[in-house]
Amino acid sequence: MINYKTREEAELIRKSCKIVNDAIAETAKILRPGITTMQLNDRAEEYIRSKGAIPNFKGYEGYPFATCISVNAAVVHGFPDDLPLKKGDVVSVDVGAVLDGWHGDSAYTFVLKNTTPEVVELIKTTKESLYEGIRKATAGNRIGDISSAIQQHTEKQKGYGVVRELVGHGLGRDLHEDPQIPNYGKRGTGHVLKEGLVIAIEPMINLGRKEVYTKDDGWTVVTRDGKPAAHFEHNVFVQKGKADILSSFESIEKAEKANEFLYSE
Ligand code: MF3
Ligand code: CO
Repeated sequence: MINYKTREEAELIRKSCKIVNDAIAETAKILRPGITTMQLNDRAEEYIRSKGAIPNFKGYEGYPFATCISVNAAVVHGFPDDLPLKKGDVVSVDVGAVLDGWHGDSAYTFVLKNTTPEVVELIKTTKESLYEGIRKATAGNRIGDISSAIQQHTEKQKGYGVVRELVGHGLGRDLHEDPQIPNYGKRGTGHVLKEGLVIAIEPMINLGRKEVYTKDDGWTVVTRDGKPAAHFEHNVFVQKGKADILSSFESIEKAEKANEFLYSE
């Protein structure tokens, strides 16, 4: 069942998203070789709580932490841990928060300098594919239009692996609502998008092959070939003509640019 949102409700989701994105920006300020992903997690969690919100991942189907931090071959749902990050690491930070009953969920992939041209291209292309998908998220289009745009930009054009096992989703009163938003599919197929739908679009793209497995922690999704992956996520309010992006990478990109340890475009 799909729950459509009013403009007022979408604005409440935007408030949750702002906290989520600023929490990711806080991690971007302190990212450097030697820092642990648990330190990033704790900074993000502290920030969310300081804004009166609650981390919505913690306890979700038993997930034990406030954030998912996925390094290198980890695609998504990585556990924060006490291992120091190293030069060249690819670090995806996925954060969620609930404020006044409304959920926000967003993710961004950082790269610690120095990196390779192929990793730079993967990160750039994955972020672009998110916006390609968002461009199709308008009333009257179908879910397959979003999915196909992401797949075309990544798999068809660059030969990257598009993860099949995990998908984007509706959100609002719950972190995960209907419908599912796959990152692969056919144009003109699937549910028709209607005004008021709020969805998380989240391409998970592998530099190498598309196959993944889940580690024995029960959560961490890792590429089979051990090559790195990227993940970006926005929450989007479907409208006629143009989607309204409720999350924003503005504070994150500002912090990324200001951090000498991070690669930025
Ligand atoms: N951003 C992730 C997603 O939608 C949420 C992580 S799942 C959790 O899929 F269990 F960690 F909450
Ligand atoms: Co999500």
